[in-house]
Parts: sequence; C-alpha cells; structure tokens
Amino acid sequence: MTGRVHVPGPSRRAFLAGLAGLAGVANAPFARSASADGSAPVLEARPGSAQLAPPEYPETPIWGYAGRVPGPTIRVRQGERVARRFVNRLPRPSTVHWHGIRIDNAMDGVPDLTQEAVPPGGSFLYDFAVPDAGAYWYHAHDRAWEQVARGLYGALIVEEEAPPRVDRDAILLIDDWRLTAEAAIAEDFGNLHDRAHAGRIGNHVTVNGAAAWKRAAGRRERFRLRLANVANARVFSLALSGLDGWTVALDGQPLAAPEPVERLKLAPAQRADLIVDVTAEEGGEAFVVSEERGRGNALRSYALATFAVSGTKRARRLPVPEALPANPVSTPTDADAARRTVLRMEGGAMGGLRAATLEGRSMDMRELAARGRVWALNGVADDLPDAPLLRAAAGETVRIALVNDTAWPHAMHLHGHHFGTVGADGGVGPLRDTILVERGETADVAFVADNPGDWLLHCHMLGHAAAGMRTWIRVG
Ligand code: C2O
Ligand code: CU
Repeated sequence: MTGRVHVPGPSRRAFLAGLAGLAGVANAPFARSASADGSAPVLEARPGSAQLAPPEYPETPIWGYAGRVPGPTIRVRQGERVARRFVNRLPRPSTVHWHGIRIDNAMDGVPDLTQEAVPPGGSFLYDFAVPDAGAYWYHAHDRAWEQVARGLYGALIVEEEAPPRVDRDAILLIDDWRLTAEAAIAEDFGNLHDRAHAGRIGNHVTVNGAAAWKRAAGRRERFRLRLANVANARVFSLALSGLDGWTVALDGQPLAAPEPVERLKLAPAQRADLIVDVTAEEGGEAFVVSEERGRGNALRSYALATFAVSGTKRARRLPVPEALPANPVSTPTDADAARRTVLRMEGGAMGGLRAATLEGRSMDMRELAARGRVWALNGVADDLPDAPLLRAAAGETVRIALVNDTAWPHAMHLHGHHFGTVGADGGVGPLRDTILVERGETADVAFVADNPGDWLLHCHMLGHAAAGMRTWIRVG
C-alpha cells in the first residue's frame, strides 16, 4: 500500500516538542532550545490598557507584553543569552521576533518558517545568544499588521562591554496609532485601501506609549538616545532643537565615525543610537522633533521628546563622542564579485501591476485584491513562496538589488543578517537590518550569509507585507 496513513496520536506540536529532546536532531525544524530548563523569566502577551491619549481621554485597550505598552525593556550585556518563556494569553496565536538580532534560526519567531505559532494558552521558550551590542526590539510576528498595531512590542538593549560615557541612557520607542474618537484602537487592520497606499498611517504618535515624553535635563548634559520606529507604516523625519547630536549606530551597528545629526529619517523598524548634548539655555527647552509635510506641502513639526533645562550639568562642553567599538559581524569585502539577485517590488496604487502568482496560480489584480493582495515580489504575492528568493552557501557574500518599481517607499527588512548598501565604487556602506527604498529607486545591498537557516525578507510596512511583500532566503 502506498500513500499516507493517518495515525491518530499526539499533535504535531507535542510530537515536535518530543523530538527536540532527542540527541542528534538539534537542528530539526521547529526544535525547541536544548537548554530548556523552565527557569526562564516569563514574557506574557495579554490584553491590557494604556493611557495613550491625553489624560482627558479614557485608557486604550491594547495587547501588550506584560499587558503594557511598550513591553518590559530587556537589557543584557553583549554575548550574554536572553531566555524568556513566552506565554500567550491572547485570543489568537502569536510568536515573538527579536528584530535585528543575528539569532539562532529556531528562535527567530516566524510562524511556518522557523516555528509553529504559539496557540492561546500555549508557551514557547526563546533562548538565544546576542552577538552584537546595540538597540534592538522585539515584536509579535503572527498577523503582525494587527498585533504590533495593538501594542505587542518592546525594546531589547544589548550593552557594549564598555559603553560610552553618558549622563543618561534613554530609549524612545516611537509609535503611530490609529485611534477612534473614544481613544480605542481602530479595528480596520486589514483595510485594503491602506495596504495599497502608504500602509496603516495613524493619527496619534506616542513615545514609550505616552502622548508626551518629557525629562528634566541640565545644560551640557549628555544623553544617549536610542530611537526606534515601531510604527506600522509611518516614516519619521527627525530633527534636533537645543541639542547637538551625533548618530553613533544604525539598527544596532556602530558607524565607523559618529555623524553629526542634521535630519534623520527613521523608517518602520529602524533604530538610531544618538549621543546628544543639551545646548539650550537654562530655563529653556530642547527637543527631538518630528517633521512632516502636510497639505499644500506645509511643514508641520511637533516634539517627540522634550528636555526642560533647569540647571547646568557642567561648565564646559564634552568632546565629540568617539565611535562605538565594531560588532563581530562580517562586512562584505568582495561585493562586486558577488552573485547578484534581483528583487523587484511591484504593485500598489498607481503601480500598474497586472497580474501576479498566488498559491501557484497567475491571478489578475482583481482576483488578487479579492484575496487581500496588492503587491508582489518578483511576480509572487504569497506569504511564503514555495521557493526561496535565493540559496546561499554558508559564508557566501550575497548581493541583492532591491528594485522599487512602485509609487511608494518600502522599508525592506532581512532577518538574521545585517547588510550594507553597495556604492558606485563597490564599497559597502554602514550595516543595517532595514532599509528604506524610495519609490523608483534601487538599493543594491550586500551581506555575508553566515547565519544558517531560512530567513524572511519583507517590507516592514506591515500591511504591505501582509499584502504580498514577503519572501525568504535559505542559508547553508
Ligand atoms: Cu521586525 Cu519580520 O520583522
Ligand atoms: Cu512596503
């Protein structure tokens, strides 16, 4: 007899959990960590509420880690391990993705690619080493377009062996919510009009879950500010006022030399580590501001962070900060010689996409839209295409041309690696894990594929990802 025989018995989940205990299958897909010991602190995802809107409004029902938004900050030393038992108290399956960490693939938190989603009431042990210092974040990765929009995110800070000297270290998680008049989260998560345009742009910006982030500061005080854009879709354009600042790291990876901040664009999922000195006068205020072009191209700016300057911290300015020590990540040296794969983004409003493949069948736009798809990567609109975009040998230098053939910008994120943009001279720019590719632009990126496993590559405008902008690569 041929064919499959259905054997009733333990669920696939229980079966896989059992497998992980066996010697010799440590690399089996979906294996749990070998160092499972039940003693890891719990990270519980559950409904909660938060005062996102100004105090005259009611609290907003959210989903959050520990029931809060943002979730607890996780802080570790470089090279240490992070272990958290994720417990799902949500009404839906969920997973946790540790954005930007060059992580063990089994801990990457991508449903159907690196693990099964954790059902309501279930749990999963995340246990991994953090090779790189810097500012990272964690967030839900199952229906992320809904779950991140409900508040499932937190900061993961990996400290250098010898951190630069600053007076204070502050994390600013910048979010953009779509709230109703009653300050509830608007439930139109799957809105296809949003997805075909810029994504789920909100109407209320918070920093660390609050409508206004404010601290007292002294003149000439030095802060390290770790900015992260945790919004679904909004790109922030930041500027400083009453502060002198330098960018020292992007997406966790140090710059070779600190760069004075003029303007800083932060696309969804991107981070920037700044060192800033308060230059405003005593009695004045200093700001990190967000600038936006509104109707009629009018410039609107508002404060994301406010420093009320009440005294003087020191008599003289501190010297310009030094570069942070480099992380142990390989920078491609032979990008020009590397095999180049093209990733063409197509679709969206005003995009002219006629057809794409979904579940193995070519469909026209109308049929795609009926299935919630409006974008395609290399002509495919699947959540997880059957074949990877590319297969790389472990250690191979890979080059991908991210071709934005759409009328919208996209924030392309690769899991498990950091890549640099290849310049005209073949040199590779600062390493990042997420890059904003403007409309009509091509970004040529290169990286050393030295982390084995299956890794997602997708747009971090989360509605775009859900509507066709996801693919994956296989390393090793
Ligand atoms: Cu921060 Cu696949 O995501
Ligand atoms: Cu996009």
